[in-house]
Order: sequence, then C-alpha cells, then structure tokens
Amino acid sequence: MTVLTLSTSSAASLRADAVVVGVAKGPKGPRLAPGAETVDSAFDGRLAATLETLGAAGAEGEVTKLPAPAGVKAPVVVAVGLGEAPEDGAGYDAEALRRAAGVAARTLAGAKKAAFALPAAEAADVEAIGTGALLGAYAFTAYQAKDGGKGPLGEVAITGAKPRDKGHKAAAERAAAVGVEVNRARDLINTPSNDLDPTAFAAEVVAAGREFGLKVEVLDEKALAKGGYGGIIGVGKGSATPPRLVRVAYTHTAATRTLAFVGKGITYDSGGISLKPAGHNETMKCDMSGAAAVFAAIVATARLGLAVNVTGWLALAENMPSGRATRPGDVLRMYSGKTVEVLNTDAEGRLVLADALARASEEAPDAIVDVATLTGAMVLALGEGRFGIMSNDDGFRSAVHTAALAEGEDSWPMPLPAALRKTFDSPTADIANMGARMGGGLIAGLFLKEFVGEGITWAHLDIAGPAFHEGAPFGYTPKGGTGSAVRTLVGLARRTAEGELL
Ligand code: BES
Ligand code: MN
Ligand code: ZN
Repeated sequence: MTVLTLSTSSAASLRADAVVVGVAKGPKGPRLAPGAETVDSAFDGRLAATLETLGAAGAEGEVTKLPAPAGVKAPVVVAVGLGEAPEDGAGYDAEALRRAAGVAARTLAGAKKAAFALPAAEAADVEAIGTGALLGAYAFTAYQAKDGGKGPLGEVAITGAKPRDKGHKAAAERAAAVGVEVNRARDLINTPSNDLDPTAFAAEVVAAGREFGLKVEVLDEKALAKGGYGGIIGVGKGSATPPRLVRVAYTHTAATRTLAFVGKGITYDSGGISLKPAGHNETMKCDMSGAAAVFAAIVATARLGLAVNVTGWLALAENMPSGRATRPGDVLRMYSGKTVEVLNTDAEGRLVLADALARASEEAPDAIVDVATLTGAMVLALGEGRFGIMSNDDGFRSAVHTAALAEGEDSWPMPLPAALRKTFDSPTADIANMGARMGGGLIAGLFLKEFVGEGITWAHLDIAGPAFHEGAPFGYTPKGGTGSAVRTLVGLARRTAEGELL
C-alpha cells in the first residue's frame, strides 16, 4: 500500500528515488509548472529548455526522465505533461493534476519514495495530486510470481504543500482514504470469480466491518428464501455458490441525513440459460463492480468520520446456467410483491437490484443511489469512459452529476422516458425483465424505478462502460477494475454531511 505524506522539505532537498515535476504546453514551447523552482535552480534555470531539447512538449500523458544535477538529492527527475498551461493567474485543472500525478506514480512502480513537486498551493491541488498519485500507484499482482511485476511506488511525498495547514491536511486525508478505498474496490473487481463468490465477498465485508466499526448483516440463501427475495434467489439459483444480501451500515451520532447505497454484485455473469456468447464473458468477473464501489465508499466514509449515516446494500449472486437455473419464461415473485416474467436470464442485474432497492426503501432513507454494471446499451450510448445517471428527481440527478465531475469522474445525465415503460409489459406477470432493444439502458432504469419506494429520491448509475478498463493504462486509470463510482459516492456522502445535498 502506498503512503501519502506532505513534506516540509524543498523538492531539491528531499531524499527520494525521484523528483516529479510538471511541464505544461506553453505558447512558446514547454513551460515548467509551479513547484519545480528549486529543481529548476539546480539546472541553472534551464530545465524547461533541457526538456524541450529532449523532445518534451508538455502534452498530457508525456513522461521525460533525466538525471538530476548536483543540488538535487533525488537521482532522477521525472517530468510529467500537464497539457495546456492555464491562463495567467488561473490554477491547474484538478483532473490534469490527478492524471499527471497518476502517470508519474505508474512510471515509478518499484521505487520506494518519490517527491511530487507539482503545483500544490491550494488544498484542492493537494487533494488532486494525492488522489491521482495513489490511484496511479495501483498494481494488481496477487496472481503473479513474487519476482514478477513490480510492486507499487512506496511513498508519495508532496512538496510545496502546507503540512500544518488544516485545509491541506484534510485534503491529504481525503486523498488517502479515497485512494486506498478505490484500490480496495479494484482489488475485489480484479479478483477472479473462482476466488470471489458471494460468500467470500460477504466475508470481506464482515471483516472490514469489524475493522472500521460498521454494522454488517448477511442474509444467506435460507434467509433470502424465507424473506421472499425472489429476485436474488432467482438469479443465484443456477450457481453452485449461493447468493447473499449484505447490509453494511455506517452511522454518525451527529448525522441528520441517511443515504442508502445499493450495489449490483454479480460475482460472475455468464448470462445464465440465456448464455452469453464467447467474446462477451471473459471480463464478467467485473459484474460486481457496483457492490465493490458501495462497499469501498462506505469504508472511506467511515475512515473520514463523515457526519452522515450511510447504509449499503450489496446484492450478491453468481449468474450461471444449470439444471437448477431460472429459465426464460419463469416468473419470480419479488421482495416487493411484484411478479416478474424472466424473458432473458442475462438481464439479471435488475432482478437482484429490484429486491435490494425495495428492501432499502423500507428504511425510508433521504435518498437511494444504486450503482451497477447494468447494460451493454449504456456502453454503446456513452462509450467506455463515463457512466449514465438516471433519477426520479431532475434536481438530484444534476447534483449527482456535479458531484461526480468535481471528484473527477466523467458521467452524463440520461432520461427515464415514461413512454418506454410499456415495452416491458408482460402477458403473464406484472412486468417482464426485458423491454425494447432500443434505449436498453433507460429501460433497465425504468425497471428499477418500479421497485423504489413511493416518494424516495433515487438515482441510478449505470457504470457498465467505465467499470473495467480493457485498454492500455492512462492517467491514473489502470488496466482492469477501475473503482468507478467510489469517488462519486464518497463525494455525495461528504456533501450530505456538510448540508449541501438533501
Ligand atoms: N452485466 C451485463 C451488462 C454489461 C455489459 C456490463 C458489458 C459490462 C459490460 C448485464 O447483466 C447484461 O447482460 N445486460 C444485458 C441486458 C439485456 C439482456 C436486456 C445487455 O446489456 O445486453
Ligand atoms: Mn447479464
Ligand atoms: Zn450482469
């Protein structure tokens, strides 16, 4: 685990394996970003010119390594591109700082300690650099030979910040809590389904509950059957490993609001009897990313001691075909009492979420936010990089979008058109689990809406696009599980604690 510190030393005098400086695209070639002054002095003020000679332009994602001159304690200078330099007087964009710090941390995998001499004048800059560095330092090596992949960078020391300033300290604490918890979500997502089934996932939550003082209740398959959770039971039935519904609660004595976070936790989605074709199931261990995000966000909330109550509901099941599996055409009686005709067993996420949403609604929280790798249609609509936000309240949808953007998560508001509701009418049951093909992401959202309690503010985040990154790493985004939505959920909890939301 990578450690984050704020250092009082100057960038040049800090003992480290490398010193990271920022370089931006100026109108007349690369320009050093603030924070690099002492390093630049050791280059006799010629660092920007030297970088230009080496071909650096300051573009986002660019890395230039050069040996440090006398006067700099670290042996190597790593210059990371920040993209376009801001207008005179304006600060650097938080996402540019996060990404540059992420690139630097990834480049420095295997090193013990690096000084991050990036622009850190404001608390927001410290938070961005810290978050980006901790997220970029991530490596999933659990299944590789010990001497295989390099471990993550050991320590990120931010120079130029104010270690005694309350705002800067709090910013570093937020970055550390969010960094470690996004990485917890990534670890869970990257763990293959043969090692992370619903039982194992529930055990992880129980263990973290003990560590962080969270109340954890686990409904096993017997309790689920007895409680009438037809959706979760119906999806989990085909698997040799039984389903679970986990309730994990963080409470604060000074809290005046309660949030409920609901996560889709399909530990493997084969599609069930409506089996997915080859080419569509290789990454389906990621189908529990919503539950991982909810779990990680609640632990981060607890680490930060935010003055808000947050209850998480993790709907865990493995979607498999077998002689016991739910068949297309079967009718399930859901926890809410509604009946659902299962037309496609691959539309399983909405079935487990329906039960969790109905159960969460019974506690009348001030708002419910669910997170799910729900539809391929949302990936087609918005691409890989952003999640869709749907809600029964336009104001709340905007507030979630704003919070996501501020935390550095790309997303976009999507509608829930009432006209599409009839496309999942069923001749046999109250509704079917599949509607029209067109607008599939919105139809899934409309299906969930049916199970949200009367009068409860609710938002649905479809993270099927950003949850699992198959391409090459970039910025602070690694290959594999990304931990999508963790930062947004923590941002919502913090805004609620501070009275800015609900
Ligand atoms: N888990 C999938 C959605 C998904 C697709 C997640 C791609 C991540 C990447 C979900 O359970 C699913 O299979 N949805 C179907 C619904 C359809 C059968 C109505 C889909 O999107 O094709
Ligand atoms: Mn599916
Ligand atoms: Zn699924």
